Amino acid sequence: MKVSVAITGASGSIYASRLIEILKDLCDTVYVIATESGLAVAQYELGQTEAKKDWSLIKLLKRDLKFDNVKIFEQDNLFAPIASGSALADKMVLIPCSMGTLARVAQGISSNLIERSADAMIKEQRKLVIVPRETPLSPIHLENMLKLSRMGVHMIPAMPAFYHHPQSIDDLVDFVVSRVLDSIGLQHPIQKRWNQRMA
Ligand SMILES: Cc1cc2nc3c(=O)[nH]c(=O)nc-3n(C[C@H](O)[C@H](O)[C@H](O)COP(=O)(O)O)c2cc1C
Repeated sequence: MKVSVAITGASGSIYASRLIEILKDLCDTVYVIATESGLAVAQYELGQTEAKKDWSLIKLLKRDLKFDNVKIFEQDNLFAPIASGSALADKMVLIPCSMGTLARVAQGISSNLIERSADAMIKEQRKLVIVPRETPLSPIHLENMLKLSRMGVHMIPAMPAFYHHPQSIDDLVDFVVSRVLDSIGLQHPIQKRWNQRMA
């Protein structure tokens, strides 16, 4: 399976970082794209001090790792295979998704690789998962989510729960990431861990 992970300028790049860490063991290929704001917010939230931009997507979102099956694309690379209906990934996740990107996807404004690729996923009726993050939500945000949801896009808001008795930030992150992995149909290690914990 090939999965695209798109990181935008909403808070919560840690969700993407954890998702990529798990996907690299479960998928053939993981494509990663970030917007300029996505990179800036990731750099800020993950506490990176070195010069912004590139270096392998902030050393693959600070886990300081490099994986052979993870391919990073620039957001303005509209020639990337995942921009075209014939070479799309099987599934795509926008995580975290800003209200700006959400609005542009809802309107079909394909102004960068993430928006174009999301647009192509919708037109080819492939699985698109959006993990929006904002609070409070305005009627504009809610209408955009409803519009996309009605088209079959799966909305999984970054809303961790507490009924599994989280012990750490990692547990809260894993709650959201596990819902995404469930949505794209992958058996994953978080599920197993929680099943053991509940048993
Ligand atoms: C530290 C920080 C946190 C932000 N958090 C959010 C957020 O949670 N949700 C959101 O919609 N925008 C958030 N923003 C604003 C977006 O980054 C901004 O609207 C940006 O233009 C989005 O661009 P993009 O959709 O191309 O990534 C945040 C900005 C900063 C600097």
